[in-house]
Amino acid sequence: MSTTLFNLQLDHIAHLQRAYSDILVEHQLDSLAIYSGHTSDHFADDHAPPFQAYGHFMHWVGLADLQHSWLIIQPEKRPQLYLYAPADFWHLPTYLPEEPWVEAFDVHLFSDKIGSDIIPPALAGNAAVIGDIERLDTRTLKAERHPEQIVHALDELRLVKTPYEIACLREANRLAIAGHQAAQAAFIGASGELDVQLAYLGASRQRESNVPYQNIIGLNEHAGVLHYQHYDLTAPKHRYSLLVDAGRRFRGYCADITRTYAGPDAPVVFGELVNAMQDVKDELVRGVAPGVNFVTLHEQMHYHLGEVLVTHGLYKGTGEQAVEEGVTRAFCPHGLGHSLGLQVHDVAGLRHSDGTHAPAPKLHPALRLTRTLRPGMVVTIEPGLYFIAMLLDPLRSTSLPINWPLVDQLMPCGGIRIEDNVAVTESGFVNLTP
Ligand code: GLY
Ligand code: MN
Ligand code: MN
Repeated sequence: MSTTLFNLQLDHIAHLQRAYSDILVEHQLDSLAIYSGHTSDHFADDHAPPFQAYGHFMHWVGLADLQHSWLIIQPEKRPQLYLYAPADFWHLPTYLPEEPWVEAFDVHLFSDKIGSDIIPPALAGNAAVIGDIERLDTRTLKAERHPEQIVHALDELRLVKTPYEIACLREANRLAIAGHQAAQAAFIGASGELDVQLAYLGASRQRESNVPYQNIIGLNEHAGVLHYQHYDLTAPKHRYSLLVDAGRRFRGYCADITRTYAGPDAPVVFGELVNAMQDVKDELVRGVAPGVNFVTLHEQMHYHLGEVLVTHGLYKGTGEQAVEEGVTRAFCPHGLGHSLGLQVHDVAGLRHSDGTHAPAPKLHPALRLTRTLRPGMVVTIEPGLYFIAMLLDPLRSTSLPINWPLVDQLMPCGGIRIEDNVAVTESGFVNLTP
């Protein structure tokens, strides 16, 4: 790991110390305890699903897999990390990397699961606790649980990334792109979904339990299932399309990238649509700048989609009509993108800058980001165009000038999504996806 990244991380932690101090003082809190969380075994079993630490815990320590651990933050004091590290011959005991950031913490190792019996002595004065503590015995814990104003303020802090966080997101993207290249090669080699997935995991150097979200690897009509969740074991007879929406974590930070490919059996128009959606994505990325409202950018996506439908013969009216009649929404039911960070769908997307709730517009209920962009925010830009029977069929009985024979021809291709990760800068944007 480079010295530059380590130095950026120390600056990041110093920034958190200042910002947390301000937030705690403003809310008259002397101590804040942040619980990392833990997994629970499946019912009547002794195995648990993969774990991911609480985002506000990861914000400090950058490790996604620390369970049963606590952070105590107090204004103007060094952060206290209570690390669950049991003496255990079944597993490799928890250890921290030999990296400079560890020096910024007072680390206390514990071999019993840390509960309310151990944490309270460390919690001085007026205290609060955040994290997934529902399954802990916290009866003796004298602290306010999940004060909404504190969580909101910390979410707000997560929205704007430090240079360290942007460097991590960039590296996550670099690693993920190696996976995408291998996935494309596997598709050219006529692999099935599972083999594309294995090629992706191998080239992006990660095990499946560490992915930031379950990779979406859809061949043919599966490309039109927005969060397609299976991997077919065998390759299909015909290869019309492949959609790969797959990421990578780097020091906790997530890449979230989508690519779509036309296969050898696709109608020519599908390949043209993929290229057109690539252009739409590039155009929308160029629209990312401070002061731009993301809802407006999302609406611009629909006008671009309207033009694509008209240009490629799917709609025999004007692009504007396609938007106003709701046709583009039937071809793309999801939002243009979302905030990205320690969580793939990162926190504080649906808020005004004064902290009040800013819900998704009625016409676009799936939009996860309604904010005005600020330098340091990182967002995804992911326009899509799909052939989803459930959404398109209700339009068949209308007089809307949709080219149904062409829609039917494209149904086996499923759909298209192209997704990049973009940081907002002082003067515009930087695309983190190489
Ligand atoms: N991978 C889920 C999304 O793009 O939002
Ligand atoms: Mn995605
Ligand atoms: Mn996304």
